[in-house]
Amino acid sequence: MMRVLVAGGAGFIGSHTVVKLVEAGHEPIIVDNFSNSKPVVIDRLEALTGSHLTWYNADLTNREITEAIFTQEQPDAVIHFAGLKAVGESVEKPLWYYETNMNTTFNLLHGMATAETRHIVFSSSATVYGNNPIPFQEDMEAVNSLSPYGYSKVAIERVLTDTAKVADIQVGLLRYFNPVGAHPSGTIGEDPLGIPNNLMPAIASVATGRREKLYVFGTDYPTPDGTCLRDYIHVQDLAAGHVAALDYLAAHDTKVRAWNFGTGQGTSVLELIHAFEKASGLTLPIEYAPRRDGDRDAFWADASRAKIELGWTAEKTIDEMCADTWRFQQANPEGYPDGDPISRPAQL
Ligand code: UFG
Repeated sequence: MMRVLVAGGAGFIGSHTVVKLVEAGHEPIIVDNFSNSKPVVIDRLEALTGSHLTWYNADLTNREITEAIFTQEQPDAVIHFAGLKAVGESVEKPLWYYETNMNTTFNLLHGMATAETRHIVFSSSATVYGNNPIPFQEDMEAVNSLSPYGYSKVAIERVLTDTAKVADIQVGLLRYFNPVGAHPSGTIGEDPLGIPNNLMPAIASVATGRREKLYVFGTDYPTPDGTCLRDYIHVQDLAAGHVAALDYLAAHDTKVRAWNFGTGQGTSVLELIHAFEKASGLTLPIEYAPRRDGDRDAFWADASRAKIELGWTAEKTIDEMCADTWRFQQANPEGYPDGDPISRPAQL
């Protein structure tokens, strides 16, 4: 059993990982400032796990608060999801992105030193592969990116790697491809604030009538149907991968290791839309639009390293990703409700 501080634990991937941690017998400590999540997620997680969860409403860009939480909780490990993640917004507000994503990382590392926390797994992205040839493999150079968001992932990987050379810590760099889906209960899922940037949340907002139509960005790519190919991965598989990575670090001497979390298969924009239409029984209004700046035509993972080393593979299909997304959307057509959770935060 490990006590795991989950930074950004109320967010989309963080919340699903909290459930997997509890199921695996670990003890999560959630820290979130709810900047892109809602406090009601805590109640949903307590209902799903049937347990009382320790959580803090705290901003990890504040070093004193971060260190105080580590002193109080003495976690064995950290899962680092805390950061800003909208590519376009990062181009508009680069300093805010760098400050938030970097300072959160620095403070978590200082906190780990305070409490002698040994393990950290980081929420990285396939974006670090930039223009490398596909499929992406972990030993390719992390080079990107086209955006401050993407470059913050490269920089954080570097900070963690350099720190591990001199500190008694072990680092897992988890490079996600395109996470979608929701918990099969329909009680937790993806609920971005504002206008969704990513394809599945955009599909969901059209399906629930929050937006009128779905724009398909680019139909003239050199792909079978002309739309971009991506490696969509179910958030439940991804969440399980975090537990596998933590368990691996705890059982090995590895200092730093990167793992791709994808299925190894490309799905086009139109294929995903059609799979969602099948799952929901809806016909979505579509408008073909010009290419979006910065999009690569196609990329997917070589997912073999995670399979060999972690014994982890993505198991869920595109149809399951769509069905689970739709279940969450139907249960929460306006997204998560506002308001205070029943559960009370831990106090420093
Ligand atoms: N798309 C649409 N319409 C939309 C939204 C997206 O057609 O309304 C298309 C995009 O043009 C792209 C595909 O759907 O072809 C997937 O786009 P997403 O924004 O869902 O995903 P990306 O692959 O662009 O972005 C993901 C992650 C980022 C990461 C990036 C590069 O969300 O965190 O991969 O690795 F930076």
